[in-house]
Amino acid sequence: MQAHVVLAHPETRSFNGLLADTTRSTLAAAGWDVTTTDLQASDFDPRESADHYADRADPDRFHAQTEQRHHADRGTTPPEVAAEVDRLLAADLLVVHFPLWWFGMPAILKGWMDRVFVYGQVYTSTKRYDAGVCSGRRMLTCVTTGASADSCAHDGREGDTRMLLWPVLFPFRYVGFEVLMPEVLHGIGGVDFLEGDVDGTSVVDRYADHWADQLTRLDDRPTVPFNRDADFGDDKRLVAGAQVHSPFVAHEPQLPWAADAHT
Ligand SMILES: Cc1cc2nc3c(=O)[nH]c(=O)nc-3n(C[C@H](O)[C@H](O)[C@H](O)COP(=O)(O)O)c2cc1C
Repeated sequence: MQAHVVLAHPETRSFNGLLADTTRSTLAAAGWDVTTTDLQASDFDPRESADHYADRADPDRFHAQTEQRHHADRGTTPPEVAAEVDRLLAADLLVVHFPLWWFGMPAILKGWMDRVFVYGQVYTSTKRYDAGVCSGRRMLTCVTTGASADSCAHDGREGDTRMLLWPVLFPFRYVGFEVLMPEVLHGIGGVDFLEGDVDGTSVVDRYADHWADQLTRLDDRPTVPFNRDADFGDDKRLVAGAQVHSPFVAHEPQLPWAADAHT
């Protein structure tokens, strides 16, 4: 069993860095072969751009998907991306660690996705969703927020974190992953917090123990439900009667201020 761990954080001794260590050691102890990419430490360039490609399909005008497919077909994908695609496609389980930054993922993780989900290799118009290249593989995110659980609740001041995570998780579904229910840890913050303890047990150890326990029970973890391909008609819209799993894909408009945008 092969697992790949991706860490998106500028500090290895951060809460996220420490949890990524826990992931590696826990999975290894359970018999997994584990690869890791620390995006910041490896100086991963999150900017998809012409600079990464020599001998372009179109030297005059850079079009990302055209160049991604062109270079994937020729085996000339930029080496740091090709190595990451190899790890991704070798993995039965992908674990992604990141802090919530401005209500989404850090830019370096978004850039990892922009570059590593290579058009023509990791997805095509016929290999996506149910037929995705990563079908049969599982992915799990562990996300931290500085804000409290109450602030991140469905009626909280910062908006529902689970809603914010839908657009983060959906690309993984798009390329075929079975997306496990994310682990969201709230109220994480600062060096003082990291160095704190409760009843003689360090805060970090308490979270690490909790997280390690989650990792040993992956088979019991529910998946995030997404609509299957058969739920959509030829017009790519939800068919009548199809089950609704989120406000992002629903029979009725969910935003009162945009209710007539697609009628
Ligand atoms: C640029 C930046 C943006 C942030 N945006 C959010 C946010 O939108 N919501 C939130 O709850 N916390 C936010 N935070 C706080 C981080 O989520 C929090 O510090 C982190 O989860 C703690 O984990 P760490 O010790 O691994 O960094 C932000 C922090 C930074 C540096």
